[in-house]
Amino acid sequence: MAYTNTMAYQNILVETNSRISVLTINRPDKRNALNQATRDEIRQALDSLERSPESRVLVITGTGDKAFIAGADINEFEGRTALMQHDAMKGLRVFDAIEEFPKPVIAMINGFCLGGGLETALACDIRIASDTAKLGQPEINLGIIPGGGGTQRLTRLVGEGKAMELILTGDLIDAAHAKEIGLVNSVVPAAELRSAVMSLASRIAEKSPIALRMAKDAIKSAARMNLREGLDRERDLFALTFSSEDKAEGVRAFLEKRKADFKGR
Ligand code: COA
Repeated sequence: MAYTNTMAYQNILVETNSRISVLTINRPDKRNALNQATRDEIRQALDSLERSPESRVLVITGTGDKAFIAGADINEFEGRTALMQHDAMKGLRVFDAIEEFPKPVIAMINGFCLGGGLETALACDIRIASDTAKLGQPEINLGIIPGGGGTQRLTRLVGEGKAMELILTGDLIDAAHAKEIGLVNSVVPAAELRSAVMSLASRIAEKSPIALRMAKDAIKSAARMNLREGLDRERDLFALTFSSEDKAEGVRAFLEKRKADFKGR
């Protein structure tokens, strides 16, 4: 059953339908730029969706066909000192909260995906872009650098040379180029973006939420640990999946030649 989150958000929309939640940044007049209030609301929504068993996969996108997220709200930078900026970045950052979110997160990149917008997409697990999307880290043009994980997550995803080129030039690249360097998983025509993402999300939403969580944790460990530690973590998480009802159901369903019905237990 479809339901729209009843919390009174001003800057985002949250809707859950058939186990898939869509969180939409809703500031089209500002190209969905992330101001502090929007970041706070995203954090609140993540907390609420984490607790919701009806929600198994999260899609993040922006309202309209122009922008996914055009970066941090530059208005908030004016007049800000280094100390004020440091204070504004205290606590769990929205990018880290997305990365740590225990369910799969797909970025549905429907237009400009710049600065903090690209950093949001980089914190997601899978990125699907419309063929009209433009991506980049243009902070250098403001005399600043990426501060939401861009220098780290972009470098890990596409390698140092490509990250250097994007961050040092601030140039925007189109979706096809982004696919070529591994920045997005796939590119689809703008008119088919939503259906392509929903189809991917529903295939993932049918899996065991416990196995999805363990898989995400194990994959994330690859960037955080050395190979020996990562392999040990994988072994522990693999063994842990054997404690779930979903594992019993998945194995039984295979042997009985039927589709598994995973309950998330
Ligand atoms: N922060 C604050 N406002 C932003 C914004 C941002 N990151 N990006 C766009 N906007 C606002 C514009 O100021 C404009 O507001 P106005 O109508 O009140 O003047 C509105 O969104 C529309 O933007 P506009 O530039 O007219 O649209 P466009 O389609 O011609 O260009 C962009 C879109 C995204 C290419 C362009 O707005 C841009 O370069 N934005 C800044 C991107 C950036 O540097 N991000 C990194 C920030 S660290």
